Amino acid sequence: MSRPVPDEPAGSQPSRPAPGDAGWLPPKPVARAGNVSLMRYLRLFRRDILSAQPARLYRAWMAEFRTPFFTSFLVNDPALVRLVLRERPQDFPKSDRVGEGLRQLLGRSVFLTNGEEWERQRRIINPAFEGGRLRGAFPAMQAAGQAAAARLQAGEVEIEAATSHAAADVIFRTLFSMPIEDRVARRVFDAFGQFQRKQPILTPAAFVPLPRWLPRVPRRGTGRPARVIRRLITELTDERARQIEAGSAPDDLATKIMTTADPLTGRRLAPAEMVDQVAIFFLAGHETSASALAWALYLLACDPQAQARAACEAKAFQAAPDMSSLPQLRYVRAVFREALRLYPPVPMMVREARGRELFRGRTVPRGAQIVLSPWHLHRHERFHDDPDGFDPDRPAGPPDCFLPFSAGPRVCPGAGFAMMEGTVLLAALLARWRFEPVKDAVPVPVAHLTVRSRTGIRLRLRPRGGDDGADGEGGATGNGGTEAGSGGKGGARAREAGPL
Ligand code: HEM
Repeated sequence: MSRPVPDEPAGSQPSRPAPGDAGWLPPKPVARAGNVSLMRYLRLFRRDILSAQPARLYRAWMAEFRTPFFTSFLVNDPALVRLVLRERPQDFPKSDRVGEGLRQLLGRSVFLTNGEEWERQRRIINPAFEGGRLRGAFPAMQAAGQAAAARLQAGEVEIEAATSHAAADVIFRTLFSMPIEDRVARRVFDAFGQFQRKQPILTPAAFVPLPRWLPRVPRRGTGRPARVIRRLITELTDERARQIEAGSAPDDLATKIMTTADPLTGRRLAPAEMVDQVAIFFLAGHETSASALAWALYLLACDPQAQARAACEAKAFQAAPDMSSLPQLRYVRAVFREALRLYPPVPMMVREARGRELFRGRTVPRGAQIVLSPWHLHRHERFHDDPDGFDPDRPAGPPDCFLPFSAGPRVCPGAGFAMMEGTVLLAALLARWRFEPVKDAVPVPVAHLTVRSRTGIRLRLRPRGGDDGADGEGGATGNGGTEAGSGGKGGARAREAGPL
């Protein structure tokens, strides 16, 4: 079966080119080496799903994990990705197990439901994120960006904390027309922070089907913050329901969602359902954007030329910030997109085969877990040139190989919102600040609720003077990197399937 492997830290390796030097590659977790037992795999998995995987998944079309208890397939073949997400999504519903740890917070939110219930929820939610509505969100995003830039201080900064703060601010302003300084908003944000530290979005249970009768024990420390968050959100939605009744509600996302009737049934979301939806908007909406934004800033800090180019655009935009000038931020947007490729905030998604299937000549039994991995697709050696390199100018890869927001009917409803938010926040920060890496502080990506750095992302900030332009960049001082690409045969109990 397997041989044990040392508990290698998924961390930095000494003699890699430093940021700013030719050949520098953004950090990538060291892949698991060699075969491991199921128990060992679960232990590695619990620590971090990224470093628990073998390096061969960056080349394989598909991998099968078969044990006496369960079978899962990680599919990288774009045709299979298309089949599962776009062509026959009804035959691959979201696995119940994905949400096991999240249900106490999210209830029956659209993120966790399936079938008719999910369809009805999406019919109500989708219109709130349509193009025209996004225009209304721009001033809130711009204001949050300015506030975030003003909060930062020169010197060394843990940037993930700052981007979390900024992204939460965007969500509160766009959803409930209140800035993060609001007392209730602040308390929700703090409780989310506590929840997020304890609860990964994917637990081993998502991959290892435990018997249904086995009682599920939520992770210690998650119950209290989940209850606090739900109580505070209930206060917010109750208040909003009163304002809607009185005709004094602001025109924001919460009002739109609470007043939209399902075009098929004519029903609106019940108050309790609204609490579930708001909880997922906060969770899905701020954690993900914060993660991508922090990585984008790290990447720019390590690539002074790219930062200069992005900052130039940002400064020009900030001279007269306006929704209609957003196309001027083309390179800034490309940087955000490249950060989403290298560090997709949702690194893997799990579906369940409703019936027996044949994937690349292999039988997929009913009930098997189907894992779609933006993490591996985005760095796949067959689909992208220089897959581990940072290149905002890279051409779009082949279809269905770039999936930060998933695809098909279950695509992230906030995708357009998030792309605009990422671009606007980056522009606000870059126009005001110059970012540099901190020597020897190389972040190691790990999957918590989203892809974060194991010990935060430390950057050095200097104010960007009026005349330093965005061109004269200071030298990058960081060093090292983590494993970039390659490596190791292995794949304990993970067998590549199909012709390679
Ligand atoms: C960079 C930012 C974001 C990324 C990378 C992202 C990514 C994703 C992904 C990959 C999914 C699908 C998960 C799955 O199928 O298992 C998803 C679903 C979802 N996202 Fe986002 N998201 C982002 C921002 C947002 C924002 C800003 C909102 C709302 C304000 C949002 C709301 C949702 C909701 C409600 C779902 C569940 C949809 C469903 O299952 O039908 N997301 N997101």
